[in-house]
Amino acid sequence: MKKTLLFGALALAQASIPAQAADTWLNAREHRIIGGGAAPTATYPWMVSVKGKDGGHFCGASLIDTQWVLTAAHCVEEESAAGIQVTIAEYDQSKADDGEQTLDVSAIYLHQQYGDDHDIALLKLSTVSDKTPVALADSTFMANLASGAELTTIGWGLTKDGDNSSAATVLQQVNVPLYDQAQCKTNYGTLNIAITDNMVCAGLEAGGKDSCQGDSGGPLFVRSGGSMVQLGITSFGEACAKAKFPGVYTRVAAYSDWIIKAKNGEVPAHQGPKPGGGNGSCDDCNEEAVLGLPPYLDLYLAAGETQATDTLTLTNPATASANLMVSEMTLVGDGFTLSDNGCENQAVEPGKDCRFKVTYKNPASNATYAEGELTLATNHSQHSRIVVELFALNGDAFDEGDGVTCAIFDDLNIRQQGLTLDCEDQPDGDNNSDGSDADGSDEKDPDATITVAGALNPWMLLGLMLLPLAGRRNAQY
Ligand code: ARG
Repeated sequence: MKKTLLFGALALAQASIPAQAADTWLNAREHRIIGGGAAPTATYPWMVSVKGKDGGHFCGASLIDTQWVLTAAHCVEEESAAGIQVTIAEYDQSKADDGEQTLDVSAIYLHQQYGDDHDIALLKLSTVSDKTPVALADSTFMANLASGAELTTIGWGLTKDGDNSSAATVLQQVNVPLYDQAQCKTNYGTLNIAITDNMVCAGLEAGGKDSCQGDSGGPLFVRSGGSMVQLGITSFGEACAKAKFPGVYTRVAAYSDWIIKAKNGEVPAHQGPKPGGGNGSCDDCNEEAVLGLPPYLDLYLAAGETQATDTLTLTNPATASANLMVSEMTLVGDGFTLSDNGCENQAVEPGKDCRFKVTYKNPASNATYAEGELTLATNHSQHSRIVVELFALNGDAFDEGDGVTCAIFDDLNIRQQGLTLDCEDQPDGDNNSDGSDADGSDEKDPDATITVAGALNPWMLLGLMLLPLAGRRNAQY
């Protein structure tokens, strides 16, 4: 379940929360973050504001290494690396502070099991930051943390629960005690919300001090001998600052290994850059279906639609002698997402199958064509790597006025690619079904009807064909 908040001038783009906590947005009540106040300047050089390319803050984060920023998965679940940026050492959102640094993001790594748990993501920066990163707590550090220890959380989120116009301009901080884990579990249990060992709670029994919407992704940390150690990532809560319902933070120490893996490139990137330089080349495409997966998937948005989804099935043949395991599924390509993943890290017995969904959501109003690639790493001796090429085409892209005609198909020499092309004869008689225009010209005929059949998917070809059209269009604007 997702929720989008608009914070006045600060666009809280797609600040969604774990599904189980969704109600907490709706139950929001007026509660000022009591005990909170403006942070001193230049105190948190590792504090990060995650923004859209328009500069609108939507989540907090922290610099944990020169090129790595830690945030909540729910903050960036619907983002692509190209669509966001981060400001490190941000303080006053309304101006460029001394020393702040705005950098692009080259990749987003979302926890693979993110859902109602594992609300953690890493952003890889396109260039290194010169700011000093914050230290992260490990499990030993957590074990030594006294119950009731004084912790601090900071951010630019709401200063009044439920009041979307109350987002802070200047970085705010509030001290909150570590909350008893068992008590947190019990209290949230009454709302049917599971507090797992991957979470840590902080707040007062009586409420009154808390993080709130817009603070997500930001840090919960402790001052320890002159330095600061981050132990939580702002994740969710029942309203804000409410008695008996402390803020819930992702327990950073539970992800020490995951963070190392992500930095090592062992976690699939979330919506990475387009593969193959966008030229439609398909070097390692499967020629035919492999274990039930097609070599390509076409997602077609009919005119006016903004997203399309297809369910794919991976089958372990009944004749197989072992379970089929998918250790990793990697999806790249702007606008494509993987969901309801019943295959990754699952054992598929012989004769059984598993399913997952691929969705294409048009990321830009006039994106005509998109391509992506889904790669599955399996334990299969012959198919350790299965690639499904993804193509998406926006129906608005080939209205009649676009001149998608047989003549253009002829331009592409589709026959040479082993395809049959069936263009209906037109009244003027020069778009012949054999593709040879009577006058030898590439005339546009908006009424031409096109049917393509063959080994390659027609939408891929349409997409290829439309690339120059799309380019021309953009250049005209
Ligand atoms: N999920 C919220 C966000 O996206 C953070 C909520 C924190 N709530 C709390 N009571 N501590 O910004």
